[in-house]
Amino acid sequence: MYRIVGVIILVVAVLVGILFANIAEPPGPVIGWDQVEPILVESCTRCHDGDLALGGVDLSSYEAVLSGDDPAAVPYDLGSSLVRILSEQPRSGMRGPDHTALFSEEEKNLVFRWIEWGCYLTGWDGSD
Ligand code: HEC
Repeated sequence: MYRIVGVIILVVAVLVGILFANIAEPPGPVIGWDQVEPILVESCTRCHDGDLALGGVDLSSYEAVLSGDDPAAVPYDLGSSLVRILSEQPRSGMRGPDHTALFSEEEKNLVFRWIEWGCYLTGWDGSD
């Protein structure tokens, strides 16, 4: 009886260890906001700045992108509105430009990986 409990505790401990190891150490290289900011500022803040936040979306800072009632980016969530609007054709009645055409595939992948891996502030190349 005690042996079974011991085995169960061991299995749970190993599973929790694997889970946290994955969260703590995403596969490098990791994209950071320092790489995402230049393209967002270039392509998006003429419509999504603090003063002119069309659609209620402010993309002018790290805090602004991640905060609010309906944040543009939610760490680890590829259902974030930022991902949706860059990958789906505009819904009918949507104002503004076709957002799927604003970024190259490479730029989209950078933004999607940044969100998928947890919206880190600074990236690293995975070497340490
Ligand atoms: C020419 C102006 C303009 C530019 C440039 C622009 N947007 Fe938008 N964006 C809008 C407008 C207008 C809306 C609101 C659309 C609506 O809700 O009808 C919007 C909505 C959004 C939303 C909310 C989507 C939702 O599901 O409600 C996000 C996120 C967004 N934009 C991200 C971006 C990103 C990222 C860029 C840069 C690649 C960008 N926008 C560039 C005008 C713009």
